[in-house]
Order: sequence, then C-alpha cells, then structure tokens
Amino acid sequence: MSASAPLSSKPVTVPDFLSARARGVRLTMLTAYDYSMARLLDEGGVDAILVGDSLGMVMQGNANALTVTLDEMIYHTRCVARGIRRSLLIADLPFMTYQLNPEQALSSAGRLVKEGGAHAVKLEGGVRSVAAVEAIVRADIPVLGHVGMTPQSVHRFGGFRVQRDADRLMRDAKAIEQAGAFAIVLECVPAELAGRITQSLSVPTIGIGAGVGCDGQVLVVQDVLGMYGDLHPKFVKQYADVGGQIRQAVRDYCQEVKAGTFPDATTSFH
Ligand code: KIV
Repeated sequence: MSASAPLSSKPVTVPDFLSARARGVRLTMLTAYDYSMARLLDEGGVDAILVGDSLGMVMQGNANALTVTLDEMIYHTRCVARGIRRSLLIADLPFMTYQLNPEQALSSAGRLVKEGGAHAVKLEGGVRSVAAVEAIVRADIPVLGHVGMTPQSVHRFGGFRVQRDADRLMRDAKAIEQAGAFAIVLECVPAELAGRITQSLSVPTIGIGAGVGCDGQVLVVQDVLGMYGDLHPKFVKQYADVGGQIRQAVRDYCQEVKAGTFPDATTSFH
C-alpha cells in the first residue's frame, strides 16, 4: 500500500484509476464547486475532484439536486478546472440532461468537457443508463457510473435511503461496467454487499456510505469540513470545523470594526 508514499505531482489519469487495485492504491475523491476550494483540495493531494450536482444543495440551498441545470454545472466545472493541477476532474450530468436518449447524453457530456474542462463525467443509474454510458464512452469521454442510492431518484425512493436489493445492485453495477464506465460510485449500500459488488467488478468502486470494501471513497467537501449543517448522513466523517472557525472569524472581525481597532496603522496606507 502507498498510503503514506510521497505525492507524485503527475496528473492523475483514468488509467491510474483503472490500475489502482492492482497497484494496491486506494482512491480519494472529494467534491468542489469553485476555484479556491479546488485549489486547496488539489494541493491537499486528492486523486479526483467531483463537481457534483450536490451543488444544488450545498451551493444553492435547495432541498435536492433536481433543479440544477447543465449551464450551472458547466459554470462551476470551469471554475474548478482553473484550480486543478493534479487531480482528475469529473463533472456530474444533472437530472434530465442524459435520460432522454443517447444523443442527449453525448451532447451534454460533450459540453461538460468542451466548455467546462472536465476530464470525465458522472451519471446515475444502472441498467437504465447503459445506452447513455455507451454513447458517451464511444466518443472517448470517460464515464464514472453511480449506482445504489442515486440522489436524482430521491422521489422514487421516498428520501435518501440505504439500498439493499442485492440482485438489482449487482446487476446495475455489472451493466455499467460492461457499458464501459472506468469506475463506479456505490452510494448508501450495506458494507458487506458493496464489498461483494467490488470483488465482482474489474473497474474500481468509489464508496459513499458503502463501507471499506470499496476501492476508494468520495464525500461532499462541505460535510468533511463542517461547513454544511442541513443534513447529517451517518456515513460522513467530519475532519475539521471550518464552519465554526468561519463563524468565530466573522465575530472577531465585526467586533474589531465596531470597536475601531481594525483597520489599524499596519493595514492603512501612509
Ligand atoms: O453530487 C454529488 O456530490 C455526488 C457524490 C456525493 C457522489 O454525486
């Protein structure tokens, strides 16, 4: 395992993902939606940055991701692309930009690459999304699949619920692998089942609420940093209280401006 090996400055590629398991390397992925966060995550050494349609919730304040548009995804992807030196950049295809037919899927994916600067795209669904994955991959745009609790299906599921139908999940993951995806996100799948699905695939799995048996892990960066309190999924581990630090910094700033102690001589022109 190279968990503590020094970071290479070489850009992470799709072939690096495909060979990760053979190299004994676990894959790291976080979301980002803007330049300065992307820059920090890239410098921190994350393998891939996902411009997730979760931006509908954490950036736009909506209850789910369904209203996010392709133009909004392109805008945020372009901002993130400017902050990246090493990480692989993956952008989500938002709801109803790939479901109509394979031509729509390819056209939407092409815009994320050409206008947004994405290296790869992600789309949700198993068997039902095979034709879309095939069309996009045929144009040499790498596709990250996403099965299990697919957030764009929130109304069908009746909420963000753990998915336990082993036969369906296995069938979905294999169909997406067969269609040409280079990796598959498994979301909210019991750990033992996610491990079994992973072992049955030759492409890597990236878990979120899917236990340690996946080949890698993805989380929403605002959850990791304690910057978004609207939801508290069981699978999140918070690594810092940046939200708390921001609130304290704002209180300090307001207090000093009101007291007349900022600006002072060192921050003024003479
Ligand atoms: O939209 C998103 O951020 C995602 C990941 C959390 C997997 O789909």
